Amino acid sequence: MKKIIVKDNLEGAKVGFDIIQEGLQNNSLKVLGLATGSTPESLYKLIRESDLDFSEVISVNLDEYVGLDATHDQSYQYFMKENLFNVKPFKASYLPNGANLDAEAECTAYEKILSENPIDLQILGIGTNGHIGFNEPGSSFDSVTRKVELTPETIEANSRFFESKDDVPTHAYSMGIGTILKSKKIILFAYGENKAEAIRRLFEEGVSEDLPASALKNHPDVTVIIDEAAASKLS
Ligand code: F6R
Repeated sequence: MKKIIVKDNLEGAKVGFDIIQEGLQNNSLKVLGLATGSTPESLYKLIRESDLDFSEVISVNLDEYVGLDATHDQSYQYFMKENLFNVKPFKASYLPNGANLDAEAECTAYEKILSENPIDLQILGIGTNGHIGFNEPGSSFDSVTRKVELTPETIEANSRFFESKDDVPTHAYSMGIGTILKSKKIILFAYGENKAEAIRRLFEEGVSEDLPASALKNHPDVTVIIDEAAASKLS
């Protein structure tokens, strides 16, 4: 894994932006894997304000809450429209459909989309417990898209976006770790002191299902972009 320490999320976004721009310029970026949450917001803002053109690029998102449809303002579908797609339309944009309660059908359909559109570049954030996508600790490194139960730690962390903790969905559809590892190139961003412990474990402990992000050490092309606060526990 390549590690880049930046001052803050604006500088991190610029590093990510340049990698995306280069992929568009040299035609190597046909399928872009996207994440939601606070972490990629600065990157999406830079993209919105740029002249980058995604009309020939397909996007696929990591995950979606089960039970929230696209009109719910905390659904990831809604987040992506607000933060990116309304301003930068893609050739096609796919997310798991949280309104489909038939988990098996939905996850099979999503894996089919992913096998037809292999990801050239996947953007990731990291949970305080080391999750990537919604692959919580203990997830198999071979896992594919499936319905997952969110841990109390993730529900607590995400409750800041909802009126109360009770409103946070308990389950999500998420690409698996195995699915994520099929991406040709991966960039993981981590900002803020609350990510410092996960980042310390990522760089200073071994590969273990207890820390889902450590699976990335098995991938040949991963760049981890960390701000000073998230890097503060690195020795
Ligand atoms: C979001 C996702 C999650 C987040 C992670 C960090 O699509 O898959 O793994 O990247 O929970 O969330 P933030 O960025 O809100 O700290």
